[in-house]
Amino acid sequence: MRAKDHLEQTKRKKVESLTRGMRPIMLYLFCMSGVINLLALTGSFYMLQIYDRALGSGSVATLIGFSVLAIGLYFFQGLFDMLRSQILVRIGGRLDRRLAPLAHKVAVDMPRYGYSTAEALERGRDVDTLRGFLGSQGPIALFDLPWMPIFLVFAYALHPLLGALTLAGAVVLTLLTIATELMTRRLAGTTHQAGIHRNTIADSNARNADVIKAMGFAHLAVDRYTKANADHLSLQARSSDITGTFGAISRVLRMILQSAVLGLGAFLTIKGELTAGAIIAASVASARALAPIDMAIGNWKNVLAARGAFDRLKETIAALASAEPPMQLPAPTNSLRVEGVTIAAPGSGRVLVSDISMELAAGQALGIIGPSGGGKTTLVKALTGVMPVLRGAVRLDGAELTQWSDEALGPHIGYLPQDVSLMDATIDENISRFSPTQNAAAVVEAARAAGVHDMILRMPDGYSTRLGASGVALSGGQRQRIGLARALYGNPFLVVLDEPNSNLDSEGDSALSDAIHAVRARGGITVVIAHRPSALAAVDMIAVIQGGRLTSFGPKSEIIGPKAVQRADSAQSGSTEPTAREFAS
Ligand SMILES: Nc1ncnc2c1ncn2[C@@H]1O[C@H](COP(=O)(O)OP(=O)(O)O)[C@@H](O)[C@H]1O
Ligand SMILES: [Mg+2]
Repeated sequence: MRAKDHLEQTKRKKVESLTRGMRPIMLYLFCMSGVINLLALTGSFYMLQIYDRALGSGSVATLIGFSVLAIGLYFFQGLFDMLRSQILVRIGGRLDRRLAPLAHKVAVDMPRYGYSTAEALERGRDVDTLRGFLGSQGPIALFDLPWMPIFLVFAYALHPLLGALTLAGAVVLTLLTIATELMTRRLAGTTHQAGIHRNTIADSNARNADVIKAMGFAHLAVDRYTKANADHLSLQARSSDITGTFGAISRVLRMILQSAVLGLGAFLTIKGELTAGAIIAASVASARALAPIDMAIGNWKNVLAARGAFDRLKETIAALASAEPPMQLPAPTNSLRVEGVTIAAPGSGRVLVSDISMELAAGQALGIIGPSGGGKTTLVKALTGVMPVLRGAVRLDGAELTQWSDEALGPHIGYLPQDVSLMDATIDENISRFSPTQNAAAVVEAARAAGVHDMILRMPDGYSTRLGASGVALSGGQRQRIGLARALYGNPFLVVLDEPNSNLDSEGDSALSDAIHAVRARGGITVVIAHRPSALAAVDMIAVIQGGRLTSFGPKSEIIGPKAVQRADSAQSGSTEPTAREFAS
C-alpha cells in the first residue's frame, strides 16, 4: 500500500513539475492583458473627445493635444502586445525544453507497454504542437477573453441599452464558441487517432521496404496507406468545416452587432440621449469586446490540438512514471532468483508466462530451450527488467529489479535481444552503450570476448565505423556479434542472450561458447536461449519452457545429458538423434 502511495505521489510530482513556475508568469500575462485591453479603449475615448469636445469647442490645440496623447497610448498598447507575444513564445520554448526530454523518454519506453512506434513518436510531435500553439494567436485570444467586461462596462457607461446590446452579442458569440467546442471535441480525438493509424502504416511500409520490393506489392501497400490517409483527411476536413462555419457565423454576427450598435446609437442620439461621438465610441468598443471571441472560435482547432497534446503528455508521463528507488544498492555478485513470475501481454493482458521459479548462483550458466512461441523471450525480458512482471519477482542478490533505477541496474546487465538492432552510431558507441567516458580498453575487451575484434578492425574506420542508415550496413551475423560485445561490455553480472547464435557460423559459435565460459569464470551469470546445441556447450543448467510454463529445470546432465537421453530412449524406443527431438520447435 505504501509503495502504491509513493508511486501515486511520484506521478503527481512528475505532472506538476511540467508546469512548475508557470503560474506566476500566467498571472503576469493575465494582468498585462488587462493593461492592453484598457489601452484598447484609447480609440473609443479619442472619438468621444474629438467629436464632443474638439469639434464642439472648435479648438485646434485640443485636437492636436488629444491626437498626440492617443498616438502615445497606441504605441504603449503595441509595445505591451509585442511583449506579451514574446513572453508567450519564450514560455513555449521553456515548456519545450522541459517537456521534450521527458516526452522522448516516454516515447522510448512506450513500445514496451504495447504502443506502436508511430504512437510513441507522436509524443514528440505533441511537444511541437504545444510550443507552436503558445506562439500563435490562440493564447492571446484566451488571455483577452476575461477582460471583455471592460468594454461592456464602457458601453454601459455610454448608455445602458448599448451595454445590454453588446452583452447580448457577447453571450450569443460565447454560446457559439461552446457549440464549436462541443461539436469538435470528439472529432479531434478520432482525427488524432486516424493520423496515428496512417503514420503506423507508413512506418510499417518503410520498415518492410525490402519485402515489398522483392515481392512486388508496393502498389497494394500504397493503397493501404492511401485509404488511411483519405480517412484522416476527411475527418480533418469535417472539423475544419465546423470551425470554418462557426467562424463565418461569428464574423457575420459581429458585423451585424457592430451595425446594430451604430443604429441603436443613432436612435438614442435622435432621442437626444446620446452624443454623436458616443455612437462611434460604442461601435469601436463593442467590436473590440467581441474580437477575442471571434479569434478564439477561429483558433479553436489549435486550442483543441494543444489541449489534447498536453493531456496526452501528462497522461503518458504519469502512466509510465515509476517510483524512484529510495537508495543505491551495491553491485550484485551472488545470485539471480526468479520467484513465481507471471507475465501478461501489455495490450491485452493475456498471460504469456506463468508462475516460473528458478535460482542461479554466480558462475552458473542457464540454457533455455523449448518450442517457438513458448515464452522464452518473454521470460528473459522480465529477467532484464524490460517486461514488467504481473506477479512474482526477479531478484538479484535478494533485491527486486524494481528497487534499482534503470541507470543503476543497467551496468550490471548485458542483454542481446532476439532481433538485434544497433543504434545509428559508431561501433564503439554501440558497444560502450554511449558511455561518455570513452573507455577504449573496455570496448576492445568486450569485442575480443565476443570474437569480433578482428572483424571490426577490417571495417572502413575500425571502431569508429558508423552503422545504420547513414553508415555501414552489417550482415545478420555481424550485427549479432557486435550485439554480443555490447552485452559483454563492462563485465555485467547478468548476461542474457536471446538466441545469440541464430545467425552465427561455427567460428561465431565457438566465440560464443568462450564468452559464456569467460562470464562464468569471472563469477557472472549467463542466461542463454538457444535452438542449436552448440550454444549450450558452455552451460551447466537447462530450463525447458513450453506453453508459458517451466516444464523442466536442472543440471544439464540430468535434462539433456546422456542419462536423460537414455531415459528418453527407453521411454520411446526407435528414437533417432536425441538433440533433434529435444530442440524441435
Ligand atoms: N508484447 C507482446 N504482446 C502480446 N503478446 C506477446 C508479446 N510478446 C510475446 N507475445 C506472445 O507471447 C508468446 C511467447 O512469445 P515469445 O516469448 O517471444 O516466445 P519464444 O521466445 O519462446 O519463441 C507468443 O504467443 C507471442 O505471440
Ligand atoms: Mg524468442
